[in-house]
Amino acid sequence: MASTAIRRLSQFLLSLYATAAPDPPPYVAPPASKESLEYADLAIIDLSKAKTEVGCKALAAEMVSAMATHGFFYVIGHGYSQEQTNRVFSIANMTFDSVNAEEKKTYTGQSGAVYEGYKPRQMWKIEDGVQDQIEHYNINHIVRKHEHPQALRPYLQEIEAFARHNHLSVLHPILRLLALGLELPENALVDQHKFEAAGESSVRFMKYFPRSEDEEKRSKQVWLKGHTDIGSVTILWSQPIGGLQILSPDGTWRWVRHMENALVINTGDVLTFLCGGFYPATRHRVIQPPADQVGLPRLGVFYFSMANDDVKLVPHEDSPVLKRVGIQRLCSDEDAPTMEEWRKNRTVAYGKKVCNQEIINGVLVKQYD
Ligand SMILES: *[C@@H]1O[C@H](CO)[C@@H](O)[C@H](O)[C@H]1NC(C)=O
Ligand SMILES: *[C@@H]1O[C@H](CO)[C@@H](O)[C@H](O)[C@H]1NC(C)=O
Repeated sequence: MASTAIRRLSQFLLSLYATAAPDPPPYVAPPASKESLEYADLAIIDLSKAKTEVGCKALAAEMVSAMATHGFFYVIGHGYSQEQTNRVFSIANMTFDSVNAEEKKTYTGQSGAVYEGYKPRQMWKIEDGVQDQIEHYNINHIVRKHEHPQALRPYLQEIEAFARHNHLSVLHPILRLLALGLELPENALVDQHKFEAAGESSVRFMKYFPRSEDEEKRSKQVWLKGHTDIGSVTILWSQPIGGLQILSPDGTWRWVRHMENALVINTGDVLTFLCGGFYPATRHRVIQPPADQVGLPRLGVFYFSMANDDVKLVPHEDSPVLKRVGIQRLCSDEDAPTMEEWRKNRTVAYGKKVCNQEIINGVLVKQYD
């Protein structure tokens, strides 16, 4: 009997050993910039207040106002501690630094219509003779839909938890508040963004590499031209290396300041479609980091959310708010693409040529210098 107990105990200890992932090599983030820059004055939304009806009402009003002024806002109270966030950055860093070039090739995306796995640098045209210096690794929100490199395998459970957290504990509360802002039933947008339904919401790790002087000169320090995001809501886990700028309604590019363990949120084209222009997709770009950070690689962690693939991108006409202020359509309802058509067409077209505008599914898609 004693030996059975010992066997059980040792099996239990072994199972613990098998599930506890080792600590990833810690990513040490550089200090934030001390340059004096023109920063956008973004609202700070505390999602922890969304637990009561009164709190939701107040937050919805704050969000409507944030969307009308900058189209970007910070989220705090999102439920991840600084330590949890640091660990995700360490895993992101490993994805680039602990996987060799040979293995990366095996996990490089094969299709031009969807981001999956690695995207090597220099795939996109930025300016004549200048390509991007961005490497990324894209992970579908259903993390085990695809295989991942050896170095990431001990962390798949954590990455799964991270994808779920972004989708269910950040995206869904934001979508409820945006729906409230339109006086729609609170799940009107959530129902179009189900975690389990087929779609391409994804976690993305991105690493911007410093560029040569020649590249900086030719592209006027622009690393990624001004654009709107393809999907619904973009969740950027704030990190200290500057470079992100938003185009304010007054036509000025302003920097986004790093805030410790905050999220930087913006909406993309899909919400413009679904909300009849009430929440316009904000134009943003990435330029060379400020002088005291030039030459540093820039590691980013994102959650890009999209509606479910079969959602037709037409506005919620029953919104009392839209009935009052009017609907601005990107295209007629009969021409409206589904989420799947829109993301595929946008992804295929992206970075193929240097151009400032093109028509995709009858919608004018612009880039800004
Ligand atoms: C990123 O990971 C590599 C490999 O584990 C490590 O050597 C490097 O110091 C890390 N980068 C930072 C900035 O911590
Ligand atoms: C985009 O998708 C639709 C439907 O799949 C297709 O008919 C259309 O030609 C595509 N391309 C562009 C550039 O709109």
